[in-house]
Amino acid sequence: PPLDEILNLHDFEAIAKQVMAEKAWAYYSSAADDEITNRENHAAYHRLWFRPQILVDVTKVDWSTTILGHRSSMPVYITATALGKLGHPDGELNLTRAAAKHGVIQMIPTLASCSFDEILDAAQPGQVQFFQLYVNKDRDITKRIVQHAEKRGIKGLFITVDAPQLGRREKDMRMKFEADDPSEVRKSGSDGVDRSQGAARAISSFIDPGLKWADLAWFKSITNMPLILKGVQRWEDALKAYDLGLAGVVLSNHGGRQLDFARSGIEVLVEVVTHLKEKRGLSFPNEKFQLFVDGGVRRATDVLKAIALGATAVGVGRPFLYAFSSYGQEGVEKALQILHDEFEMNMRLLGATSIANITPDLVDTSNISSH
Ligand code: FNR
Repeated sequence: PPLDEILNLHDFEAIAKQVMAEKAWAYYSSAADDEITNRENHAAYHRLWFRPQILVDVTKVDWSTTILGHRSSMPVYITATALGKLGHPDGELNLTRAAAKHGVIQMIPTLASCSFDEILDAAQPGQVQFFQLYVNKDRDITKRIVQHAEKRGIKGLFITVDAPQLGRREKDMRMKFEADDPSEVRKSGSDGVDRSQGAARAISSFIDPGLKWADLAWFKSITNMPLILKGVQRWEDALKAYDLGLAGVVLSNHGGRQLDFARSGIEVLVEVVTHLKEKRGLSFPNEKFQLFVDGGVRRATDVLKAIALGATAVGVGRPFLYAFSSYGQEGVEKALQILHDEFEMNMRLLGATSIANITPDLVDTSNISSH
């Protein structure tokens, strides 16, 4: 169907399922084990209800914000997803170019299909990008990658901490991974790639399961980029990250692709905010220690709930993959435009004229427990 018949982010998924190559669909859509967490990610938002305010002048509403100190047209960033060329020949460049047009931030994955420099070169002057890091067993390789990223102007280093081993994504594992295009595995840094068990396992054997808290001091010694842990799932770990002086955490279960029965990011957000307030007197959103959430976000209303509860911004993954797999760069632009329109309408209906006015009282959290 033509792009103007796409009404929401869910539509891209339905179309992608029909038009994508089976192997690519399996890799993008799959999640761990019985995919319970994957379904829960979106469902968790259904337990939160709004308490809108009436009779506020909402002629003008503004949903722009800052993320790690950088302007963003909305409190949404494009999160890191590997292997963009499985879905479209331009791979991650679709995201880079659409992000530039819409003034949003792209997080570049370690396992991009396009090379890191190709993605940086496709960016507009001044375009802000983050980098997602999988830590290699060979720390010299990791050091080189991190320092190169900093030199090229990356504004935040998101270290993935929820994947000491890749989860079992059985849909993907049933597919034999045959990278026709060697660039699909370019960044893996792994020799002896096992191609018999799907794309994810083929590209991930270099990731270090020995990564531990004590290593974070080393990261601080090799870079001045803000460090953020991606994949925090309990308040105790968020507190450790804060005490180590990191710039923030992403409350995420990797799109349900790692530990099945991990809770949703939005649920974890509630407990993190409660405990960091209680134990360190922090209030959120917080400039010094920023909370991010991802997983299952498909509507501006989902984003607004997370913002109200203390998140600085929210990551969106699969919808953009499905958008470019079906329509290329224009698809991603359309997805961002849909979110833009949803923000405008829903901010008006909530009676909030700016992101600063998206406050906790706008959400009824009585269906979510704070562990
Ligand atoms: C991911 N994600 C991910 N995360 C990461 O830290 N490194 C990576 O290489 C990848 N790769 C990846 C590939 C694909 C196909 C998907 C769907 C996801 C996880 C991603 O950053 C994010 O946590 C989730 O995608 C968010 O959930 P939604 O928006 O996809 O539901």
